[in-house]
Amino acid sequence: MRLEGKVALITGGAHGVEGELMGFGGASARLFVQEGAKVVLGDIAVEDGGKTASQLRDAGHDALFVKLDVTNEQDWQNAIETTISNFGRLDIMVNNAGTGAPGDVEETTEDIWQSQMDVHAKGVFLGTKYAIPEMRKVGGGSIINISSIYGIVGSVGSTAYHAAKGAIRIFTKSAAVQYASENIRVNSVHPGFIATPLTRRGFDDPERQEFMLSRIPMGRIGDPYEIAKGIVYLASDESSYMTGSELVIDGGMTAQ
Ligand SMILES: NC(=O)c1ccc[n+]([C@@H]2O[C@H](COP(=O)([O-])OP(=O)(O)OC[C@H]3O[C@@H](n4cnc5c(N)ncnc54)[C@H](O)[C@@H]3O)[C@@H](O)[C@H]2O)c1
Repeated sequence: MRLEGKVALITGGAHGVEGELMGFGGASARLFVQEGAKVVLGDIAVEDGGKTASQLRDAGHDALFVKLDVTNEQDWQNAIETTISNFGRLDIMVNNAGTGAPGDVEETTEDIWQSQMDVHAKGVFLGTKYAIPEMRKVGGGSIINISSIYGIVGSVGSTAYHAAKGAIRIFTKSAAVQYASENIRVNSVHPGFIATPLTRRGFDDPERQEFMLSRIPMGRIGDPYEIAKGIVYLASDESSYMTGSELVIDGGMTAQ
């Protein structure tokens, strides 16, 4: 029970339906409740989010779904209000929602650039901004921002995604410094190539798969639970001296 008594809000948490491929948010929600936390799942995927939350409730856990578009400030206010009115506090904020966008610099339109910046950079900013006052009320908290190895190194495409995930990385350090004295820790997670609902279609392409496997020292694609376990660690008091850190979970890809 590493998260006993804690309340968590997880964005992009819809993909946690039993028997289906999990996303990081869904897998984290499942581990969080096993560790004693109450969870609120925020997502735009209403059907999957509702199903994940009701499965967790059926298994005897405290879980609920709230429709949350992370780019919308009003939605954020509503999600925080829902969390507090149902569970009374907020200890853990996992800013995980995201989408992909391919393309080199010349292929990237202004719309693609803006939408990537909105969902990743602005979404994480708003989530952090609205979590802080609630964490202050309970004497601290842990904010976990899901960036990517693509927020650390470059690649041949995904230009706007790289820029937006890089923004999350440095925003996290800035917030960490600002709120460390209030016991609010802010860390980023940098997953490598992991099979999830977001990536599965691309990863199924044999040519792409071969390219990825050739670049991962451990020689395999990761599992969503391998990321979720890192998120549990950062959410728990076991990481009490970590803030502004980057937790890289990538099978060694960025070690070379
Ligand atoms: N899978 C990978 O290989 C990988 C690697 C590095 C980083 N990531 C990042 O991990 C995070 C989780 O992705 P995942 O791979 O677990 O896939 P996922 O599909 O489970 O998670 C993404 C979720 O975000 C939701 N979402 C999209 N736009 C939203 C918005 N505006 N507001 C609220 N929710 C929104 C989607 O509905 C979806 O449920 C993303 O930020 C992604 O960029 C993934």
